[in-house]
Amino acid sequence: MRVLIIGARGQVGHELVRQAPPAFELIALGSHELDISSAAQVNQAVAEYQPALIINAAAYTAVDQAETDTERAYAVNRDACLHLAHAAQQTNIPLLHISTDYVFSGQAAQPYCESDLCQPQSIYGASKLAGEQAIAQHCPQHIILRTSWVFGIDGNNFVKTMLRLAQTRTELSVVDDQHGNPTSARSIAMALWRIVNLYQTNPSQPWGTYHYSGTPSCTWYEFATEIFAQALQLGLIAAQPSLNPITTADYPTAAKRPAYSVLDNQLFSEKFGINPLDWRQELSAVLLSLRAHSQA
Ligand SMILES: NC(=O)c1ccc[n+]([C@@H]2O[C@H](COP(=O)([O-])OP(=O)(O)OC[C@H]3O[C@@H](n4cnc5c(N)ncnc54)[C@H](OP(=O)(O)O)[C@@H]3O)[C@@H](O)[C@H]2O)c1
Repeated sequence: MRVLIIGARGQVGHELVRQAPPAFELIALGSHELDISSAAQVNQAVAEYQPALIINAAAYTAVDQAETDTERAYAVNRDACLHLAHAAQQTNIPLLHISTDYVFSGQAAQPYCESDLCQPQSIYGASKLAGEQAIAQHCPQHIILRTSWVFGIDGNNFVKTMLRLAQTRTELSVVDDQHGNPTSARSIAMALWRIVNLYQTNPSQPWGTYHYSGTPSCTWYEFATEIFAQALQLGLIAAQPSLNPITTADYPTAAKRPAYSVLDNQLFSEKFGINPLDWRQELSAVLLSLRAHSQA
């Protein structure tokens, strides 16, 4: 079974390649090989490679930059999803796609379910929601996996930023009034491969939109505290910077983030038998890999 992985050089894309079961033939493309904002390139790639399934891990993920680079954000996060949905629908293959907790407003007081109202607060969130809608409308065989606060070995993420800052700073201020779920890129990749495996044995799957994130929920400040505690223990940093909890108002950003975007994973667990992983254990694995890379 041939699987086309798009966005193969991103955080999740790398892990999709790393975690791929050997039984599948991979066509893993970065943005230089396939620009999904071009319908012609999408159609040509699908015609040339004739995949049995597409996984889209590509997105415009620069949340603050999207506020001014709006056209590009919509081209990648909405229009490209429409091109992929059309191509998948026309060739009768499934499309697995990743979306975000930023489709929600953040005003809730309990974890968001799939059926909860989407009210994005940013261009990034709005463009991702438009992409979800394009896929849901035009490609019946789809899985949209909403996830949050992604970290891993590759690319840029909060864990790597904290480790970098710890090299030069003795004191750091981190937002403590935004609540979410750190999620390892590896766990997302493994969940997607499990769906592919299930599809291979039974092409009739409960297609639709699902939530999948790490557990338990925390704030960015709590996430940073755990990163530094583990990094110190593993010898990745010489000393822990002193951490100050601050409010969102103390740290203005171009894009508004949801104050509370905890995702309810129950539906996904029920339908696919995939349970959320403890992000603290996933963090340990990422830090060990980073340490091994730095020693190599
Ligand atoms: N990062 C998070 O915290 C987070 C949270 C929730 C949901 N998500 C979602 O999770 C998915 C994976 O995110 P990630 O963190 O792995 O993102 P990432 O590391 O930023 O990777 C995204 C990839 O998309 C590629 N890309 C961008 N524009 C493209 C285009 N026009 N054609 C083809 N490829 C293109 C990029 O390639 P280049 O680098 O070559 O441009 C990049 O390798 C995305 O759907 C994202 O919205 C992420």
